[in-house]
Amino acid sequence: MPVLRSGKIMKKLVAYFSASDMCITKTVAEKLAAAAGADLFEIKPQVPYTKEELDWTDKNSRSSLECRDKSSRPAITDTVKNPKDYDIIFIGFPIWWYTAPPIIKTFLESADFSGCKIAIFATSGGSGMGNTAGDIKEICPPSARIIAAKRLKRSAEKEIAEFARVAEEQ
Ligand SMILES: Cc1cc2nc3c(=O)[nH]c(=O)nc-3n(C[C@H](O)[C@H](O)[C@H](O)COP(=O)(O)O)c2cc1C
Repeated sequence: MPVLRSGKIMKKLVAYFSASDMCITKTVAEKLAAAAGADLFEIKPQVPYTKEELDWTDKNSRSSLECRDKSSRPAITDTVKNPKDYDIIFIGFPIWWYTAPPIIKTFLESADFSGCKIAIFATSGGSGMGNTAGDIKEICPPSARIIAAKRLKRSAEKEIAEFARVAEEQ
């Protein structure tokens, strides 16, 4: 367990949203939490997404409509009570339309992340992170820091562990 200069053990959280029936981000989140020795929190929509609602080829599917509407904030069932208790918060999600899904904005606005160190990770069908970190920074309080941002594959154990280690050193 990494120890802070104060001698305190680092407290870490992996918060993730995963929507498809393949649970790809969930798998990465679980592996990351195990590698980092972090608590795990699932960002759950109050109304779960159906397969039809996740159809990005349908311009009128729920996900397409939400992603086009910059003010969209899909409701979540619960949030993290005190983000400031954590030395690092990892936030993971699937890339939707080249960036974070709108529910991540709901999560970031649902608690006080000021001063927090945030490391973001994503899974995707092939797209990289693009400007995802910048988009998330816009939603975070100015004093929150994005210390890392990486696309991770669910089978890449070594890369996941390396991501945890690098984030801890920031
Ligand atoms: C609405 C929607 C939009 C998506 N947009 C992208 C995209 O822009 N680029 C990409 O590579 N994959 C895209 N994908 C694919 C997901 O990022 C990918 O399948 C992800 O690993 C699913 O993770 P999950 O199982 O945790 O939901 C999209 C999927 C959905 C449902």
